[in-house]
Amino acid sequence: MAAKKAGCFITVEGADGSGKSTVISLLYDYLHDRGWNVLLTREPGGIEIAEKIRTIILNPEHTQMDKRTEALLYAAARSQHFAERVLPALQAGKVVLCDRFIDSSLAYQGYARGLGIDEVYAINRFAVGDYMPDLTLFFDVRPEVGLARINANKGREINRLDLEDIRFHQQVQEGYRLVRERFPERFVTIDAEQSLEQVFEVARTILEERLQEFRI
Ligand code: TMP
Repeated sequence: MAAKKAGCFITVEGADGSGKSTVISLLYDYLHDRGWNVLLTREPGGIEIAEKIRTIILNPEHTQMDKRTEALLYAAARSQHFAERVLPALQAGKVVLCDRFIDSSLAYQGYARGLGIDEVYAINRFAVGDYMPDLTLFFDVRPEVGLARINANKGREINRLDLEDIRFHQQVQEGYRLVRERFPERFVTIDAEQSLEQVFEVARTILEERLQEFRI
């Protein structure tokens, strides 16, 4: 049985180039400035062991990585990050903002890599137990728009998954559609092709509404 949690677990999901990482850090600043006890973190990574796993997974030279190895490494990084960082923060009553979580593995490894959404869900249940986010903001952007943004952002490091072709990114998008259908109670979709200001405003409004229920 999972230990009870008290805080609020919020995740952001979406394709590469959807702007979710920029918006989540703006949301963090916004909540922090208003006195919320909030933790901002990301996957894969967030703590030392998981950041090390991240460098193995995303190294562009690791072209020979088997897709099951990839799925297991994401789940391993998630398990450590959840136990070491997310769960203690939730148990301390914090709002946890996490850039990607299980849904990324379901869309990327489960659907786009073809391992099966149920199969990948099963290894992730092993990794983190029954925990799922209270709210997931999905940043909806067409894959070609996301890729164009990545390519325009010269400062961004190119990782192994960025090197996949447009078909892979279309599969990821379809994977996310199936995952959103599966968990309609916690997913909210945001049109991420709007300006950054508009996207932030929509995300902030949804988040504040949801947090009313969690005011301690
Ligand atoms: P990031 O660019 O959002 O930090 O994510 C790194 C890459 O890892 C991105 O292409 C999405 C991918 N990813 C998966 O394929 N499965 C996962 O479970 C996670 C968390 C990320």
